[in-house]
Amino acid sequence: MRGNGRGREAVTTPASLEHLSAFGHGRANWTGHRAARMLACIAMSAATPTTIRPAVAADLDAILRIYNDAILTTTATWDEAPWTMQQRRAWFATHGPSQPVLVAEVQGAVAGFAYLTRMSEKSGWRFTREDTIYLDPPFHGRGIGRLLLGALLDEARTLGLRLIVASITAENAASLALHRALGFETMGTLHNAGFKFGRWLDTTYLQLDLGPPATSHRQDVV
Ligand SMILES: CC(C)(COP(=O)(O)OP(=O)(O)OC[C@H]1O[C@@H](n2cnc3c(N)ncnc32)[C@H](O)[C@@H]1OP(=O)(O)O)[C@@H](O)C(=O)NCCC(=O)NCCS
Repeated sequence: MRGNGRGREAVTTPASLEHLSAFGHGRANWTGHRAARMLACIAMSAATPTTIRPAVAADLDAILRIYNDAILTTTATWDEAPWTMQQRRAWFATHGPSQPVLVAEVQGAVAGFAYLTRMSEKSGWRFTREDTIYLDPPFHGRGIGRLLLGALLDEARTLGLRLIVASITAENAASLALHRALGFETMGTLHNAGFKFGRWLDTTYLQLDLGPPATSHRQDVV
């Protein structure tokens, strides 16, 4: 548990990750080996007991709603038109084991989601991923983002990935703080790279170097 001096509820800490336990696979195309490596995290916070688990098709309604709300109300994403469920299903189909999708569940509701995406289809980029994370607004500021992104980074390490990149709208203080709190370093800002809600936007690139993956994992990365 931790306080943050900003009047938020007591929230979970990475220490909660010590409660990781084996979790069954949520997607039919995941191998048993892969499933055995996927973990569920039960965060024992009095304020917000949170489960981190792989996303399943039944989560897509919530994922679509959370992301479309962010499209319409924030500059966190530079998408301007809401996605359709057809787009979201197609996206999910492309996110197999090497581009995992996790959700945070609170009292049976999807509070948010996070995933890894390849930066490029060129083979030399295969150890690099970009991360994405969105929480439903009622769940902001309770430590759930830290828990969810932390679990995603654990998954990246298990996959044998090397570099995780975040491209964050420069005015998005919460996401910048979250990534920096988890060890990301700021690499630079592109000015006027985006345009939304009638104004120009900057994006800041951050990276987390996970170190050289173990040789035994390298064959797994695609
Ligand atoms: C960004 C987001 C994922 C952060 O998740 P969260 O659960 O709200 O953040 P947490 O409560 O886990 O806080 C993580 C860290 O960020 C800090 N933080 C959180 N909100 C903050 C804010 N508004 N301003 C400054 N710092 C903030 C916390 O103090 C904490 O740091 P600490 O652990 O050193 O105290 C969440 O706010 C969100 O989904 N926002 C909308 C979508 C979005 O911006 N996605 C990212 C796109 S790049």
